[in-house]
Amino acid sequence: MGPADLEDIIGSLRPFKHEGNGGKAPVVLIGPGDDAGITLIGNTAIVETVDVITPVVNDPFTFGAVSAANSVSDVYAMGGIPVTALAIAGFSSCDYEPVVLKEILSGAVHTLDKAGARLIGGHSFDDPELKFGLSVMGTVDKNRILRVSGAIDGDVVILTKPLGVGILSTALKGGKLSDEDMRRAIEWMLMLNDKASSAASSAGASACTDVSGFGLLGHAYNMVRNAAVDFVIDSARVPVMEHVFDMIDRGMVPEGAYRNLKFNEAHASFSQDVGDERKLLLSDPQTSGGLLITLREDKIKVFEDSSLFYAVIGSVQRGSGRIIVK
Ligand code: CO
Ligand code: CO
Repeated sequence: MGPADLEDIIGSLRPFKHEGNGGKAPVVLIGPGDDAGITLIGNTAIVETVDVITPVVNDPFTFGAVSAANSVSDVYAMGGIPVTALAIAGFSSCDYEPVVLKEILSGAVHTLDKAGARLIGGHSFDDPELKFGLSVMGTVDKNRILRVSGAIDGDVVILTKPLGVGILSTALKGGKLSDEDMRRAIEWMLMLNDKASSAASSAGASACTDVSGFGLLGHAYNMVRNAAVDFVIDSARVPVMEHVFDMIDRGMVPEGAYRNLKFNEAHASFSQDVGDERKLLLSDPQTSGGLLITLREDKIKVFEDSSLFYAVIGSVQRGSGRIIVK
């Protein structure tokens, strides 16, 4: 879901009794602070999440498709399956023809089709800056919820997509990268985390989240904060998209990567030989990034036996909620 500060405020609010529901509040299984909220209605566990982004590519259909993949990702990060979605669009009719909105929505529906989910409504508002996203509802087996916390000493840390889309889309906007060079990165963003999510469930993952706006290290920190474990990340084993280091050299680094790095420096310790370029890569905000999963080492076999892309990027050890980058 959204920025940690918003989630923290929601978590601090006093819950209230809902008289209209016979005085019974729903059973909240997962509240603010995870990738999505989960409530139990009867025997069904309902997953809900919302995410809205600004364009990361030029083509409106592709933008809608990427944004939808990004929004459903939080359902997969909880081990769930998306069912329905509502569209949210910030749109200026002075700057764009209505056909642009239709293209964006068609792209979103294209992605939702692949996810087996349906778009059942939406809301738009006037906004000088184009924004689009989805609120997604899904279901999850209440005994197989993948939580952000729960990593266990001795686990391995797995990442299921390479990093760098924030840097590459900055380079695209800056005219330093061609649409053709961006094509592979777009394919990664369009890829759903559905199979990675099932593999994580089958492997009995101890924790799982998706890498999005806070970058790899920010989301890794969310997994260990307030826990008696540390992550040891082997930065040389973190997979990277093509052209990314070249683009960092050319200054194509999004504002968000610097902001994330500043935050990360408070919770992470970096080995001397981890250079600034790599620190920025590990802090690069991702759109529709991969899943970050912790599981027992002998369960990696589930990933080995699948056709999924994955990399073992580190391990979990006893500690105090820190990220150690080597
Ligand atoms: Co989210
Ligand atoms: Co998330």
